[in-house]
Amino acid sequence: MGLLNKIFSKKAVLPPMDLGRLKADMHSHLIPGIDDGAETVKASIELIEALHELGYTKLITTPHIMSDYYKNDANIINEGLETMRAELIKRNIPVELDAAAEYYLDYEFESKIDGKELMTFGDNYVLFEISFLNEPEQLDSVVFKMRTSGYTPVLAHVERYPYWYGNPTQYEKLVTMGVLLQLNISSLGGQYGPQTMKIGRQLIDNNMIDLLGTDCHNMNYIEILRSTLTDPHLHKVINSGKLLNAGL
Ligand SMILES: [Fe+2]
Repeated sequence: MGLLNKIFSKKAVLPPMDLGRLKADMHSHLIPGIDDGAETVKASIELIEALHELGYTKLITTPHIMSDYYKNDANIINEGLETMRAELIKRNIPVELDAAAEYYLDYEFESKIDGKELMTFGDNYVLFEISFLNEPEQLDSVVFKMRTSGYTPVLAHVERYPYWYGNPTQYEKLVTMGVLLQLNISSLGGQYGPQTMKIGRQLIDNNMIDLLGTDCHNMNYIEILRSTLTDPHLHKVINSGKLLNAGL
């Protein structure tokens, strides 16, 4: 290949994306001390300031609710939310903070659907995650139950479930069932390995991503987010016009 060809085939580096275009993040672990995210108020403030610097003006934080590990409920989450809101006012940090939850699909989750007691954001959206090891047998029926109860299910980090990597029609099936698909931005920066990155890119190329999340737990996530800002697929998905973040 000649020198000129080499020069012109080299891809231009994109400018860093302003995440302010998304306005709102809808997946993070910022309530101190109740899951595997921020451990202290100080750590939480540090993360909120860093996310604000990246451009976000609204953060809908989503602590884990998982029967076996994180026995959180709306009272615990809302109490932590009020603490952090007061801290933001005290420190003059102009970020709107709200909370929902990241529900793990387990035996207690179904009963919470029946009791209509799920924490939601946006238009009755419910963020839920599933096992990384096997597809849960009850996935279809639980999604159906959420839909018929008036909720819109949002599958957390859809690109991170390895058992679907050889079966891309599964993603179409989720969309047909009425599930919104959320991608972790840091997957595009390689946080979870090359396979997860590849699936994330494919989902963006197929215009299937509805929401972007940081899934921010600690400052390592912020570092990876920063290094992902020039990624062409991040630019592509934000320019897709499909994302719902800004309306949250
Ligand atoms: Fe999460």
